Amino acid sequence: MQDLSALQSDIEARIAAAQDLRALDEVRVAALGKKGEVSLKMRELGQMSPEERKTAGPALNALRDALDAAIAAKKAQLEAAELEARLATERVDVTLPAAPRPRGAIHPVTQVMEEMGAIFADMGFVVADGPDIETDFNNFTALNFPPGHPARDAHDTFFMKAELDGAPAVLRTHTSPVQIRTMLGQKPPIRIIAQGRTYRNDSDQTHTPMFHQTEGLVIDKGTHMGHLKGCLMEFVAAYFEREVEVRFRPHHFPFTEPSAEMDVRYERVGDEIRIGQGDKWMEVVGCGMVHPNVIRNCGLDPDEYQGFAFGFGIDRLAMLKYGMPDLRDFFAADARWLSHYGFPALSMPNLATGLS
Ligand code: DAH
Repeated sequence: MQDLSALQSDIEARIAAAQDLRALDEVRVAALGKKGEVSLKMRELGQMSPEERKTAGPALNALRDALDAAIAAKKAQLEAAELEARLATERVDVTLPAAPRPRGAIHPVTQVMEEMGAIFADMGFVVADGPDIETDFNNFTALNFPPGHPARDAHDTFFMKAELDGAPAVLRTHTSPVQIRTMLGQKPPIRIIAQGRTYRNDSDQTHTPMFHQTEGLVIDKGTHMGHLKGCLMEFVAAYFEREVEVRFRPHHFPFTEPSAEMDVRYERVGDEIRIGQGDKWMEVVGCGMVHPNVIRNCGLDPDEYQGFAFGFGIDRLAMLKYGMPDLRDFFAADARWLSHYGFPALSMPNLATGLS
């Protein structure tokens, strides 16, 4: 058996000397492969006497097991070293500049919401929020649409099967219920805007069943119509980034008294809409002085507190400023449309460096 232990140390030396996985495999084949040194020795067992085989058999098995184990250990060691080497060369340099042409863009509706947020924040408004699924009370009753009032029908409301506070829940038809939530939840002075999705069962070139509004509400002592007009005129000048001529027309909303709509002067040149010139007027916002009933419904005394409110259609403001002709494209999720009309992902609108 002397030659077996010599063979073992010889092969173990070769295993230890293997530089990489390929060299190691060559050592394995030369020792344990079909025609390897150890395998040939095993074949000799057949010609041995039973006596000899009794000692040679277990010795050869032990040799094969020892070599198997040595090869497996070396293999693990080489693989670990290889991984280390790869990790060292494939390092990612996080200080490299980002890809020069990022894909993806900010949707014009989001862009306009951010522009409006920047303008109203500058005037001292804070952002309030409310859910898309509303109670009938917040969406209608508290806003002075009594049950059975005909103005409810004008809203093409999506009613839900589920009930909230004892009446079918609604997908909010406007952002005005956030006025109610705010007045119920905090004390005047109040100066908030609320932006988000609104829903009506209506669909054509200028109406989609889901659209977006920005609501504004100011409640304080001594608030009057002059504050409302000044606020909205300052807003459109900032938003369109130029002098814009506006006019106020009397209107009716259940939750304001008096109520008005504000139009901006515009003209159509070919496919393009030009704001601030021409002889046409486009309605951009509904507004008015908050109705005393609404103030009372929120637990405040209308003799002490007054206020004004307004509601913009965001989608329409986006179309006017950025010249999109069809509202339905806004929600078609077409990547080509978005890459044409979208905005760079990393430029936040602000009044200091310009809105868009
Ligand atoms: N909620 C109205 C609508 O969706 C818009 C509106 C008009 C909101 C006048 C107001 C307002 O806050 O004072 O048609």
